[in-house]
Amino acid sequence: MTTFPVADRATAVAARATDLTKVYGHGETQVVALDGVSVDFRQAEFTAIMGPSGSGKSTLMHCVAGLDSFDSGSVRIGDTELGSLKDKQLTRLRRDKIGFIFQAFNLLPTLTGIENITLPMDIAGRKPDKEWLERVITMLGLSGRLSHRPSELSGGQQQRVAVARALASRPEIIFGDEPTGNLDSRSGAEVLGFLRNSVRELGQTVVMVTHDPVAAAYADRVIFLADGRVVDELLRPDADSVLDRMKRFDARGRTS
Ligand SMILES: Nc1ncnc2c1ncn2[C@@H]1O[C@H](COP(=O)(O)OP(=O)(O)OP(=O)(O)O)[C@@H](O)[C@H]1O
Ligand SMILES: [Mg+2]
Repeated sequence: MTTFPVADRATAVAARATDLTKVYGHGETQVVALDGVSVDFRQAEFTAIMGPSGSGKSTLMHCVAGLDSFDSGSVRIGDTELGSLKDKQLTRLRRDKIGFIFQAFNLLPTLTGIENITLPMDIAGRKPDKEWLERVITMLGLSGRLSHRPSELSGGQQQRVAVARALASRPEIIFGDEPTGNLDSRSGAEVLGFLRNSVRELGQTVVMVTHDPVAAAYADRVIFLADGRVVDELLRPDADSVLDRMKRFDARGRTS
């Protein structure tokens, strides 16, 4: 059996949830959205989160990203325990260490491409690293589109701007909730290819929620949620193996 030195493993974790629970509502309307989830997201790894609608994917992502509170368990980003932070510190950690890509691109319509990309850093009063920014823009094929406003860009281009915005500050980890959910398959493939490249070439850590086995196949690893629990994991996925696993616990769900 291969064993890893504990220290190495510890430094390789970009984010970790331990025994995380989250309950919405009270009494009869109570919903256990997360039911003791423990999961590691390692550095420079691309992880996809899959599972049926309502299984807790967005909740997990929001809790790990410090966007939502949880009821018990713990979350760590790098070496920082989120539970130990005050609101202000949490806001700063989110701003400095985490990038987000949403299903709706959330670009500001009055700003150009480049203004949208650097907006979070402008707000934070930080100067973008020029060399890094150029690398990101070139990798995403956005060089000729920087002065365009979102309305002058295709859906795929807008989402690439959103990806650039997430990458621009070199966050420790990028979270995407169905980042290609609004794109046609070609633009989606493009954005997924860029996300994968950012992991391979730039050492970025990416966690993405998706319903699409083809999208999940771009990841290094897929974790499957059902009823607020991690029920399965697949390494080096391809679309067929992902589909196969999905069918398996669909069947299990019907019999339980
Ligand atoms: N603000 C809320 N108030 C009450 N219940 C909520 C709230 N947000 C989510 N839930 C419930 O928690 C459970 C998990 O929701 P979540 O949004 O994490 O699911 P999901 O896996 O992301 O689903 P989808 O694939 O449809 O986006 C669901 O049963 C949902 O109804
Ligand atoms: Mg969701």
